[in-house]
Amino acid sequence: MAKLRRIAGIDIGSTKVVCIIAEVDPMGKIEVKGFGTAPPEGFRTGVVISLDKATDSLASAIEQAEKMAQCRFHTCQVFTSITGDHIKHLSGLGAVPVSRPPRGIQARDVEDVIRQAQTIRLPNDEQILHVIPTQFIVDGQKGVRDPLGLFGIRLEVEALLIIGAVTAIQNIYRVLERLDISNRALVLQSLATSFAVCDEEDKELGVALVDIGGVIDISIYREGQIRFTKMLPVGAANITKDVAIGLRTSYQQAEVVKREYGVAMAGMLERDEALTIEDASGRGPKQVSRRLLASIIEPRVEELLNLTDSEVRKSGLADGLSAGVVLTGGGALLSGIDVLAEQIFGMPVKVGRPERVQGPREVVQNPAFATGAGLIRCALEGGGRQFHQLPPPSLGQRLWEEMKGWFRG
Ligand SMILES: Nc1ncnc2c1ncn2[C@@H]1O[C@H](COP(=O)(O)OP(=O)(O)OP(=O)(O)O)[C@@H](O)[C@H]1O
Ligand SMILES: [Mg+2]
Repeated sequence: MAKLRRIAGIDIGSTKVVCIIAEVDPMGKIEVKGFGTAPPEGFRTGVVISLDKATDSLASAIEQAEKMAQCRFHTCQVFTSITGDHIKHLSGLGAVPVSRPPRGIQARDVEDVIRQAQTIRLPNDEQILHVIPTQFIVDGQKGVRDPLGLFGIRLEVEALLIIGAVTAIQNIYRVLERLDISNRALVLQSLATSFAVCDEEDKELGVALVDIGGVIDISIYREGQIRFTKMLPVGAANITKDVAIGLRTSYQQAEVVKREYGVAMAGMLERDEALTIEDASGRGPKQVSRRLLASIIEPRVEELLNLTDSEVRKSGLADGLSAGVVLTGGGALLSGIDVLAEQIFGMPVKVGRPERVQGPREVVQNPAFATGAGLIRCALEGGGRQFHQLPPPSLGQRLWEEMKGWFRG
């Protein structure tokens, strides 16, 4: 029997951590075998704030996924998402003479030029997470996607460098290490998400991917590659907070009522209806109007979408988005948000759900699992072309961390 490959995705979101275990057959068909979620304790918007709690959160999600998939997590190759407001991007340029021009451009030349593009001066507390070549230039000829084998004497590259804070990156590695996960890679969250909800054609034509989770992650793709990424520190969680305040109820009750009865535009409701909710004071149930709920949600959603729109415009890439906008993340499930987004962005908008992944409906139909599913696809399709795996911390670094721990102890 042909061998199945096992891949696991760990998505560290701001409202939940997710573990997905999938099997991939030799034809590349992906089947989700198990998944688990846990509250993101020990993390704040993707960044580790307590090693112990963060390890426990991931362990709990992993355990659920293992049970459902009936397999050991350690037999999987693990891809983990990383995000946070420490992430930024810069452009990098590299140029090298082709080592043996009569033989054409070799893999070594491509590696050399990409390495050169990374030689930028970074502060000590930042490191490169991904190097994404956006175009190669061979003897002045721009727009080359794949220079391998081409004849030329000078090879240049323009690349997008995704940069993150050393501490944030290394702390995720420390959590993975504690969970004994050695076969691992870190992937920028929005890049991973794009593998599940944007196809190659979208990315080629130009698309803005807007992941509305607890916070908003924007990324823009053109000519097949990521060109821009930014996290906004606001998101669907702010809608829930407004509902809790506006209806004078608890956050949990507001979350339930928002998911079940919330709409993005009050005008969408043909008639009003009375909803029964718990009062914040604990004085028992009370009735509120659904129109009131909608009138609390609408201005906040409008604000979130306007903020997103202005970031997309500031990126300078808004004019080339022929494939429009893909909304994903749990916030994309708010009824009517795509219609409101179309009005605000002035572009076609669709809701992105994980594609070309089979398995439980809760995962494959759910925009909130787009990153988790994208991590699996990224492992299969991303390869060295899209991103570079980060080496684990060096032995010296690890010993130094251990020693610091002893002193603290
Ligand atoms: N059916 C629904 N209707 C409206 N909002 C929803 C629905 N389901 C989930 N949400 C909202 O989506 C948000 C969570 O989305 P998601 O699970 O994608 O976040 P996350 O991945 O944890 O966070 P992030 O990606 O921002 O770090 C919550 O604020 C939740 O209220
Ligand atoms: Mg998310």
